[in-house]
Amino acid sequence: MAPTKQQILDSLAKIPGPDGTPLSASGKLSDVMVSDGKVFFSITVDAAAVQAWASVRDRAQAAVQAVPGVQSAMVALTAERNATAPPAGPQQGARPAAPAGGRAAASPIGVPAVEAIIAVASGKGGVGKSTTAVNLALGLRDLGLKVGILDADIYGPSLPKLLAIREKPETAGGTRLKPIMRYGLTAMSIGFLIDEETPMIWRGPMVISALTQMLREVEWGALDVMVVDMPPGTGDAQLTMAQQVPLKGAVIVSTPQDLALIDARRGIAMFRKVNVPVLGIIENMSYFLCPQCGTRSDIFSHGGARHEAQRLGVPFLGEVPLHMDIREKSDAGLPVVATAPDSPLAAVYRDIAAKVIEQLKSPTRPAPKIVIEE
Ligand SMILES: Nc1ncnc2c1ncn2[C@@H]1O[C@H](COP(=O)(O)OP(=O)(O)OP(=O)(O)O)[C@@H](O)[C@H]1O
Ligand SMILES: [Mg+2]
Repeated sequence: MAPTKQQILDSLAKIPGPDGTPLSASGKLSDVMVSDGKVFFSITVDAAAVQAWASVRDRAQAAVQAVPGVQSAMVALTAERNATAPPAGPQQGARPAAPAGGRAAASPIGVPAVEAIIAVASGKGGVGKSTTAVNLALGLRDLGLKVGILDADIYGPSLPKLLAIREKPETAGGTRLKPIMRYGLTAMSIGFLIDEETPMIWRGPMVISALTQMLREVEWGALDVMVVDMPPGTGDAQLTMAQQVPLKGAVIVSTPQDLALIDARRGIAMFRKVNVPVLGIIENMSYFLCPQCGTRSDIFSHGGARHEAQRLGVPFLGEVPLHMDIREKSDAGLPVVATAPDSPLAAVYRDIAAKVIEQLKSPTRPAPKIVIEE
């Protein structure tokens, strides 16, 4: 039988916090989410008290795990940094302490064995970010790298569909989750844990908890690159993510149209604000490639993103055509780079992957005279 929220809260009533107050009455708990035997919640405490709470978190997780019907529990301990504390972490030195939402930033979430974490982002939705993230990850794999992909779009996870993953991650040693391997990629998505139909309503701190868990409590193993598929937009949630994850760089996906380019500009501005290098722009759905005859037509006056990249002083990484195979194969969980590796489409993504690596190794400095803050 599926466990109820009340059963979870009852189990937490038996766990005392450091001062003896039961966890359920401590005021530190986020909303408890129970879905299909999976339980998620966070405990938010003062940064100074984190040590004292670590064992409480462990006991809470064990108690929830012991409730009949619970398949897995994700319990995150998140710290509210007080406003005067300096930002922490080697990569964070130059970053502002608080994101725009006013919520103070905790330490960035690192994954020790991952060499470089890069975000694939866009200012607006539906430009093909997830499709690009998956094929870029596969392109990086083809260059001989060990690659992971993290679906950070907790509002609308795409990886279950794009990689045709139906199985649930197994737990490793009680609290950690094993990622799912597909096409040589190590993959994790909140969508592997919940049913696609379940509407997910996340409150601010839960976003970071879920992300923390997916970064720190998943057995990623040693990776050269982790590609993070970001949620669309440049709101507080995205800004906080950009700030919390120690990103080596961000790739911006845009379509050629003017309106999408305005959003791409906002995306670039967001990453610059938190001192994450923009590795470049990809123009997706750049031109139409006829599936029958292979003829190319520039139906949208393509080239807008290349021009915009030049204007903003960021590298242009390449053009991906609008092609039925990309859409059909992506939506069927058969990404082109994995299933049609000899196609020209796969070559496009591999070229982009090579440019991304080039940028990671020796970033092009942005042209200083261009101001893009809006
Ligand atoms: N180059 C392309 N050619 C044809 N179809 C594409 C291409 N890129 C993406 N698509 C299709 O466009 C749709 C949206 O793509 P995708 O889900 O990757 O966008 P997204 O930016 O991640 O969206 P969201 O903002 O909702 O996360 C999908 O059906 C996908 O198959
Ligand atoms: Mg997406």
